[in-house]
Amino acid sequence: MNNIRNLIFGIDTPVQLKNGTFVPAINLDNGATTPPFKAVVEEIEKELLHYGSVGRGKGQKSAHTTEVYKKGRDAVKAFIGADDTYMTIYTNSTTDGMNKLASALIESPNDVILTTRMEHHAGDLPWRERAQVVYADVDSFGRLKMDHIKKLLQEYKGAIKYVAVTAASNVTGYVNDVHAIAKLAHQYGAKVVVDGAQIIAHQRFSMLGDTPDANIDFFVFSAHKMYSPFGGGAIIGLIDVLNKHLPAFYGGGMVKAVCDDEVMYLPPPDGYEAGCPNYPGVVGMIAAMKSLQEIGFDYIQHHEQQLLKRLLSGLQIMPNVILYGDSVNISDRLGIAVFNVQGISSSDVANYLANHHAIAVRHAAFCAHPYVRRLTEEKEKSATCAQPDGMVRVSFGVYNTEEEVDAFLSAIRQLSHSSIQSSGSLE
Ligand SMILES: Cc1ncc(COP(=O)(O)O)c(C=O)c1O
Repeated sequence: MNNIRNLIFGIDTPVQLKNGTFVPAINLDNGATTPPFKAVVEEIEKELLHYGSVGRGKGQKSAHTTEVYKKGRDAVKAFIGADDTYMTIYTNSTTDGMNKLASALIESPNDVILTTRMEHHAGDLPWRERAQVVYADVDSFGRLKMDHIKKLLQEYKGAIKYVAVTAASNVTGYVNDVHAIAKLAHQYGAKVVVDGAQIIAHQRFSMLGDTPDANIDFFVFSAHKMYSPFGGGAIIGLIDVLNKHLPAFYGGGMVKAVCDDEVMYLPPPDGYEAGCPNYPGVVGMIAAMKSLQEIGFDYIQHHEQQLLKRLLSGLQIMPNVILYGDSVNISDRLGIAVFNVQGISSSDVANYLANHHAIAVRHAAFCAHPYVRRLTEEKEKSATCAQPDGMVRVSFGVYNTEEEVDAFLSAIRQLSHSSIQSSGSLE
């Protein structure tokens, strides 16, 4: 599909290099956030012509926005293959969704939650701060150890209430078989919460497994990682469980009645959505889902795998590049790669790429310190808790091209040239 780049807003906006010239940026940092689809910007602009208070006023515009907002819940469910047992709760982001979910589902600080050493902090800390957390570890390639998950579930003999796991790592891009994890967790009476932040724009995902015991119970994601950077995100979760809990997040829009000494809260979804809704965020998210479906996940997955293959083949033959994760068997990876250049800090590499080549990447530890410390073996090197030095991350979006990969590889090749390093041109 040659016209994908035409779908992206701002793709040709020039940025200034250190030498003062302006060139279009190459964005290889889609794991952090994605640029908007043009269709998303257009839809938001169109909808703002009819914007009114959601669920609160009686004007025509208010009625319109309320209707669009409500219908959006079904569009989210359809996108993620959720049936009538699930509902959509709008959130501001994955972090917001995870915290709301953890604060709602955890009933006592003694509740036991199983999560993993692969998680983004948003998939770890909301549980760690509220309950007893046990961690499944990763292997030397950074893949999740399924047998460790099983062992912990067995060891805790039904005491684990929730298994919180990411659908895909934001560091290595490994895709976890969360349906198999759900099957296992359900055998031991636990429910599964999946962090969908990374998978949402890169692979087709369904709440439903091959058999009902493999269904996902809760799924959380952010819209800004799926080409709609206007806030927004969602929790998709089991209605019967959500109905029994409320998050510790209070305000207007979530109550039936408030008296001097008594409060009657609304059931979900309203009970989970205190405050004024982010209407543009919802409109953008639904428009982004439509665009992703039009492009098609078969194409997206295949294209991003091709880019990853090209990238890894190029990096593997550079003697001073250290790659992390499995660079040979990559079929279970999203288009994400992490590496270091020997003798140069990840921060210097990222600065060099931006200042001299207008290439945007992310560096350091990607809000996944325990995982990065394992991959770089900093866990073995240091017993103290400190932010790891980390690595450089390339993460693809559907609009990235082979030419961009080649430009990146050429820049890294130049970087390994000692004259650049010694001339102080790294900055
Ligand atoms: C796997 C994963 N989970 C959670 C998050 C947090 O997302 P947000 O910052 O949108 O809340 C991220 C963000 O990078 C992520 O990659």
